[in-house]
This record gives sequence, structure tokens and C-alpha cells, in this order.
Amino acid sequence: MGEVRAKHVAIIMDGNGRWAKKRGLPRSIGHQRGVEAVRRLVRGLEPMGLECLTLYAFSSENWKRSEDEVGDLMNLMRKFIKSDLPDFVANDVKLHIIGDWQALAPDIVEMLEDALAQTAGGSKRLAVALNYGAHDEIARAAAKAAEAGEVTAQAIEARLDTADLPPLDLLIRTSGEIRLSNFLLWQAAYAEMLFIDTLWPDFTPEHLSQALDDFARRERRYGGR
Ligand code: IPE
Ligand code: IPE
Ligand code: MG
Repeated sequence: MGEVRAKHVAIIMDGNGRWAKKRGLPRSIGHQRGVEAVRRLVRGLEPMGLECLTLYAFSSENWKRSEDEVGDLMNLMRKFIKSDLPDFVANDVKLHIIGDWQALAPDIVEMLEDALAQTAGGSKRLAVALNYGAHDEIARAAAKAAEAGEVTAQAIEARLDTADLPPLDLLIRTSGEIRLSNFLLWQAAYAEMLFIDTLWPDFTPEHLSQALDDFARRERRYGGR
């Protein structure tokens, strides 16, 4: 049996708050350590041969959290772009952003536009979901399809935020929760899923590498035989 390697993996990075709580630390520290896990993962991607990694960083429902927590998350985003953009450029990473990111604070939108421009020539794709909700994404895509006078599954799919990315192979969620929380609902139709108990700040490139080996052993059928 020939092994098929995953090209596009998406991760719901969950469990920062619980990681902090377990240690008697504020949630903000959990988020900081979560950012470090992202950095570690992006730096460790090279040997895995992925075409695209998509990370769920902030959902359209995460605005419901306290003002302090939302503020902490936005500040971490600012800090991360500033500190890691040169690394992305040096490492041939091409940044994509999915979700309604234009609705974020104007200074963040500006930083993201700059990051997109600076990484446009990269070949390893990193997609970050910011202010992302699948219902919103599908509704926006359907509205565009309707405007073009063609409301078919194909026409909607071609207008999703992920239209430029390869088809989703594997969706991973950390922290033991077994739900999608409005992430990539359309794209997950035939994706493989993996739910692991590890809390996001403890996630390492080895976890991803293991998930990819696990994926390669699965048999995907897409309804046929
Ligand atoms: C994931 O960790 C990060 C974001 C949603 C931004 P959580 O903050 O959801 O952590 P838990 O689920 O409370 O442990
Ligand atoms: C999903 O996690 C969003 C991100 C990881 C960015 P949540 O922690 O917000 O999801 P729920 O509330 O447990 O469903
Ligand atoms: Mg959570």
C-alpha cells in the first residue's frame, strides 16, 4: 500500500488557558507560551514536506472573551508579527490570512498587509485564521457567487478564503475538545481528523510529525470504493 503524505494540515490551537490554570498562572501567560509553540512549529516545519499549514489563532466568537483577554491576544499578535516576520521572509514562508481580518484594529490590518506583501514570494505556505468563522466565510463566498449569478458548490468553493490553498487533508485539535468551533466547516468535508489531549503550549514539531505518519496510514475513500 502506497503511503500518501498530507499536503495541507490545519490546527485548532486550543488549551492555552487550561495550560496556565494548571500552573496557577494567568491566561495571558498561557497565550504567550502558545505563541512560542507556534514559533517552534514554524521553525520545525522544513523536514515535514507540507505544502501548507493553517492555524486557527482567533475566531469570530473569541470577541466574547473579556476585554483584557482580547487585548492581550491582539497585543501578542502585534508582537509576533514584528518579531517573526524577518524569520518568515528568510525561511521562504508565504503568509496567507483567512477570516474577516480587515475588521481587526487598523494598525494590525496595516501590519498584516505589510507582512503579506513581504512574504508574497515565499513557497512554504502558512495560513493564519484571524477573526475567522466558517459560517461567515461561507456566507461571504455565497454572496460573491450570487453576485456572479452562479450559486453552485463549485462556485462557492472557489470564493472561500482558502481558494488559493491546497485541499485540506488533516485537521488537528489539541486540548481534548472534540468539536470544530466554527473552523473550516466546508473544507473539512472529507478531511481526516485528529483530536489529541496535549494542550497547545506543549505541542511540539514531533507531535505534528507523528500526526503526519498517522495520516499516511489512513485510507481515504471519498464515498467511493
Ligand atoms: C486557545 O486557547 C487560544 C485561543 C482561543 C485564542 P484557549 O484560550 O481557548 O484555552 P482554553 O480552551 O481556555 O484552555
Ligand atoms: C477555538 O477555540 C478557537 C481557537 C483555537 C482560536 P475556542 O477555545 O475558542 O473554542 P470553544 O469555545 O472551546 O468551542
Ligand atoms: Mg479553548
